[in-house]
Amino acid sequence: MTRTLIVTGGAGFIGSNFLHMLAELRPQWRTVNLDALTYAGNLENLTALEGREGYTFVHGDVSRSEDVERAFEAAGDDLPVSVVHFAAESHVDRSIRSGVPFVQANMLGTQVLLDVCRARGVERFVHVSTDEVYGSLGPEGFFTEKTPLQPSSPYSASKAGSDLLVAAAHHTHGFPALITRCSNNYGPYQFPEKLIPLMIANARENRPLPVYGDGMQVRDWLYVRDHCEAILTVLERGECGRVYNIGGHNEFPNLEIVRRILAHLGKPESLIEFVADRPGHDRRYAIDAGRIERELGWTPRYTFEEALPLTIDWYLAQDEWLQRVRSGAYQSYYQSQYGA
Ligand code: NAD
Ligand code: DAU
Repeated sequence: MTRTLIVTGGAGFIGSNFLHMLAELRPQWRTVNLDALTYAGNLENLTALEGREGYTFVHGDVSRSEDVERAFEAAGDDLPVSVVHFAAESHVDRSIRSGVPFVQANMLGTQVLLDVCRARGVERFVHVSTDEVYGSLGPEGFFTEKTPLQPSSPYSASKAGSDLLVAAAHHTHGFPALITRCSNNYGPYQFPEKLIPLMIANARENRPLPVYGDGMQVRDWLYVRDHCEAILTVLERGECGRVYNIGGHNEFPNLEIVRRILAHLGKPESLIEFVADRPGHDRRYAIDAGRIERELGWTPRYTFEEALPLTIDWYLAQDEWLQRVRSGAYQSYYQSQYGA
């Protein structure tokens, strides 16, 4: 083993993809996955890693210092430890219903994690944040790392708060932190509360596809593997104290995404149902990823034309996974969010 990495939130969508990628690209690394297994955390995403030498799962909450300490004990002290921090409450719609779990996990959790990591003397700490901290754009322009933070939702406000806590730890204590801010991800293992997997799941069962408002809100879509490679690049080569935007130069209105999913599945557009808009809905996100491209040499490898079909086909092949994650609490969430 040449390096030890604690990954928080490794049982979620991006965290599990990141751990799978590390097993492939950095097989000599020891990894510890610290995850509270909330509704979005699923160890089924990681069955391929079970029993693998050098991989340990620790069931714990980043907002409890004793749980974070257990992750460090699992990491051992023979090698320097770095941290990639994914753990968060991540869904905007849920944050509109109740912001408290977002403040607890995203802000308190980040501060508790920072304090333990500082006391333990970690080598590097990558904080995985989001373009949503910048707020909403008009029809033109891009978010750069200098764009002021102007979050709109309780989710994005809690992520902006966590970014500021990480930046303060660097500024005040010289803590070796880096921050990434990425656009919308899609790909395998995404919980079907988010646009792309929700629309795939509904379309294959000929259920209505709920499009908020006029469906002309724009997001910049990035395949999750590209995001994971960008995070690895920042971990290995980024400059501490710096923020790196990550995006795909791949902007589409939501309606266009939904139409492409229907076309790939051979389903009719009559399944589209326009529903009440998300309160405070951000109109457009677009990322200027020039810094990470110029300074660290990262660029996305997947085109949307290539990776959207890959994603749809993954969900079609994972029927049992999809049925299991949509059972139980998902049904009551869906009912209260969409009323059907
Ligand atoms: P997700 O909701 O799929 O997974 C979150 C994971 O964190 C789950 O495994 C959950 O159990 C765990 N978790 C939640 N609270 C925890 C706590 N208090 N302690 C320990 N574990 C906890 O989220 P995701 O989509 O994989 O996002 C991961 C990170 O990336 C988040 O920080 C999110 O803000 C950020 N991000 C996501 C996207 C996106 O498009 N999904 C884009 C940019 C940034
Ligand atoms: O931009 C990065 C962010 O992307 C991440 O920080 C968040 O964790 C992640 O959830 C995502 O946030 P969004 O709110 O953009 O993603 P979501 O998939 O929820 O919605 C994408 C767009 O689709 C948004 O404009 C709302 C719309 N939408 C979403 C759902 C779930 C619909 O029209 N109907 C729906 O049912």
